[in-house]
Amino acid sequence: MTNIKVLIESLSNKQSEALDRIQSCNNLNDLRQIRSKYFGKESEISKILSNIRDIKDDSEKKQIGEYSNKLKNILEIEISKQENILKNIEINKDLDKSIDISLEKYTNNIGSLHPITQMIDKIVEVFGYFGFSVASGPEIETDWFCFQALNLNINHPARDMQDTFYIKENHILPRTHTSSVQIRTMLKEKPPIRIIAPGRVYRNENQDQRHTFMFYQYEGLVIDKTTNISDLKSILTTALRNIFDNSDIELRLRHSYFPYTEPSFEIDATCMLCLGKGCNVCSNKGWLELLGGGMVHPQVLRNVDIDPNIYQGFAFGGGPERLLMVKNMIEDTRLFYENDLKFLSQFRKI
Ligand code: DAH
Repeated sequence: MTNIKVLIESLSNKQSEALDRIQSCNNLNDLRQIRSKYFGKESEISKILSNIRDIKDDSEKKQIGEYSNKLKNILEIEISKQENILKNIEINKDLDKSIDISLEKYTNNIGSLHPITQMIDKIVEVFGYFGFSVASGPEIETDWFCFQALNLNINHPARDMQDTFYIKENHILPRTHTSSVQIRTMLKEKPPIRIIAPGRVYRNENQDQRHTFMFYQYEGLVIDKTTNISDLKSILTTALRNIFDNSDIELRLRHSYFPYTEPSFEIDATCMLCLGKGCNVCSNKGWLELLGGGMVHPQVLRNVDIDPNIYQGFAFGGGPERLLMVKNMIEDTRLFYENDLKFLSQFRKI
């Protein structure tokens, strides 16, 4: 006759032995073997339990049945706990071997185009819609291309506004404006002409919030038989609305003077921050001065052998930095040239 006490005792011995093994097991294969050792058909526990059939007393049978179920549950829970621990260890080992894609360093180091380059790209794209192609010229220019051909003779007082670093002997200088590209283009190409010329220019300036010795400009030139001021105004209005992504912008042309245009204008746009109401950015004027421009002076056309009785056109010039400063409320133009990543990364697209 099977003694229930003996049975329970041997089950309980098996329980503590199994718990020890499970808890000290350190790989998943061994754990699988432990499971079949204690639970499989041929397992030791099954063997012990096969003796239950010999128990005659129903309540004893029930007691031993309940005990063995409890034991199975305890061991199952312990096995799955240990299985989780071991699986996690394996996953972590795998991760150690691969690159940790959660490290922020990698995402933060993505480079991007400089804001000025982004703005120039935008300008080129927008004027491209109107059929303007990109033109360029050298940054080291001759006095003739930079000034004389543009109607600024040697002693012209307007040269004072564009002081630069002259090399007297061969009359070369770092160009002070991109207007020199007008001359180079008109000498190379026959009208009709439609170009946009972005590039670097240099002036003898004291560095301050609004001035640097080097900065960027974009120059536009259209030469054709019937171009007029309203073409200039409508193309620039559409272009600036597109660049600022604001269809409420209007333009205002104020009389001004440039030796290479007649009439000449300062071109203002509605302040896009206050929409003309007046604010700090526009010094309460409601308008922002963004470009210079006008109808190309007949003498400039003659200088490049284009007959002003047949052709006319308009030209304009402005600074991409100015557009960026207004668009992003930046107060100091020097920030664009300091290579401070904290500043530059604000213009990252992703
Ligand atoms: N060259 C001028 C400057 O640097 C800008 C400018 C004004 C360009 C009038 C033009 C123009 O083409 O017509 O300030």
